[in-house]
Amino acid sequence: MLPVVDKPLIQYAIDEARAAGIEQFCMVTGRGKTALIDHFDIAFELEATLAERGKQDALDMLHEEVMEPGSIVTVRQQVPLGLGHAIWCARAFIGDDPFAILLPDDLVLSQTPCLGQLADAYRATGGNVVAVEEVPMEQVHRYGVLKTGATERNLVEVKGLVEKPKREEAPSNLSIIGRYVLLPEVIGHLARMERGAGNEVQLTDAMAKMIGAAPFHGLKFEGRRFDCGDKAGYLEAQIAFGLVRPDLGPSIRHFLKAYSDA
Ligand code: G1P
Repeated sequence: MLPVVDKPLIQYAIDEARAAGIEQFCMVTGRGKTALIDHFDIAFELEATLAERGKQDALDMLHEEVMEPGSIVTVRQQVPLGLGHAIWCARAFIGDDPFAILLPDDLVLSQTPCLGQLADAYRATGGNVVAVEEVPMEQVHRYGVLKTGATERNLVEVKGLVEKPKREEAPSNLSIIGRYVLLPEVIGHLARMERGAGNEVQLTDAMAKMIGAAPFHGLKFEGRRFDCGDKAGYLEAQIAFGLVRPDLGPSIRHFLKAYSDA
């Protein structure tokens, strides 16, 4: 629910997915996180107050956020056993279809929404696609990292995957960011509950088992990614997303200049 400018991160994730044509959503949450699902419900009292006071702009913003009835569900991850386990918790929702994963703490500013770029790549390749970017070697231990094969334009063939490798063991510096389009077979691999890095059930390890069975690519997406799970990354996202807003950009530019001159 952390806001960037004036929207919570979860709203950016849902908007990005909607723009990619996705119509059914499942949020994997934990105990006490009811604010997430409440955010997408009708806020009856708030709407009545805004209408009474003639605040049409705020009302329009609220209406944009409301979801189709039945289009969003939540499942609970009862114990924090890792990203792979979180995805496995959504297995009934996923069923037998390819599906997308968005990790909302990775925020992407781009011309075409990042997940839309992945969906296009999925349609072109018919296999698994993950969004990737190069990171400094001293940061590879924070990511799932690709062993790369042939590269064709912005698509890199995935030959291997390692979750959170040590710098000296990393097969490259091409790292996965929180956007995936995956085939449902990954659930069968996750179901084995094998523990990996950090003693957690890792999505990266389950994805690695699918290499060779179907096409698997990393997409060097167009855009800039901000890690909102990192304090500096979160602040940078506020600035970058603020600067592109016509109503806020000029004043932000102005104060940034004042700070850099100081
Ligand atoms: C998760 C994944 C990792 C990926 C990263 C992207 O790690 O396990 O492979 O590179 O997200 O943000 P986490 O950030 O949960 O440690």
